[in-house]
Amino acid sequence: MYQTLETSLTNSILTITINRPDKLNALNKQVFKDLNTVLDEIEKNSGIRSAIVTGAGTKAFVAGADISEFAGLTREDAVALAKRGQETFFRIENSTKPIVAAVNGFALGGGCELAMSCHFRVASENAKFGQPEVNLGLMPGYGGSQRLTQLIGKGRAIELMITAKMIDAATALQYGLVNEVVAQNELLNKTIALLELINTKAPLAVGGCIRAANAVFDETTDGYALEVEDFGNCFVSEDAKEGATAFLEKRKANFTGK
Ligand code: COA
Repeated sequence: MYQTLETSLTNSILTITINRPDKLNALNKQVFKDLNTVLDEIEKNSGIRSAIVTGAGTKAFVAGADISEFAGLTREDAVALAKRGQETFFRIENSTKPIVAAVNGFALGGGCELAMSCHFRVASENAKFGQPEVNLGLMPGYGGSQRLTQLIGKGRAIELMITAKMIDAATALQYGLVNEVVAQNELLNKTIALLELINTKAPLAVGGCIRAANAVFDETTDGYALEVEDFGNCFVSEDAKEGATAFLEKRKANFTGK
């Protein structure tokens, strides 16, 4: 089904592995095509509650956009390339099903941008993050200048972008770029455990939390108004009735997403 991704669905969690290890999982045209197809699948398949994005092999999450596809591009081509990257990563960011990056090695350039478009990030101890585009005479184009600044603050973001320095997992944790650092052999299991916990919660409420947090960074949306509306929608959902009933009956809630 996919040329550049491996997917597996277990306990309603879709694990998406970018599978070009010989090219450190660099994002070429086909990866973007496959990512968009898998995002369609996440949207429409009610058997998928959440997803993990990771990279094949032990060395890299994703080492960036595929530099071998840059030769001969015109300005218009470059603008289209950046737009395609941004649009794909907006789809990840705006998914109301949680999508978490399990960063298992280099997350550079487009790889760091992909990880930052996910709802949060768990990293292995060998993970390395950076936006090294200035080394190529370029700058981030897939939303990195915006999301890095949102996540770690302007001073640190500008320093990272204009020095092209990489930071290790411990520094990424200190900066708030990742939520947790774990041993490499535990990365997927720990990320799965987090999503299993999230999958016990009411999907409409989980989606509302994501939408409301995203609204903080969207000038066209009043996040407080959105919160009020989504709170109302959650309140009249079957899951909210189930949540309150289960609490009073001292049992675990069984949420259905309705
Ligand atoms: N695009 C295309 N190919 C890439 C790539 C990228 N972003 N990153 C790595 N590769 C390829 C290499 O060309 C090499 O392919 P080859 O074996 O056919 O020559 C293979 O992946 C392994 O990479 P290599 O550079 O040999 O590994 P390394 O361990 O010496 O270095 C990195 C690892 C991540 C430091 C180095 O690959 C690198 O700097 N990559 C580019 C990072 C970057 O600038 N990203 C932003 C792009 S806009």
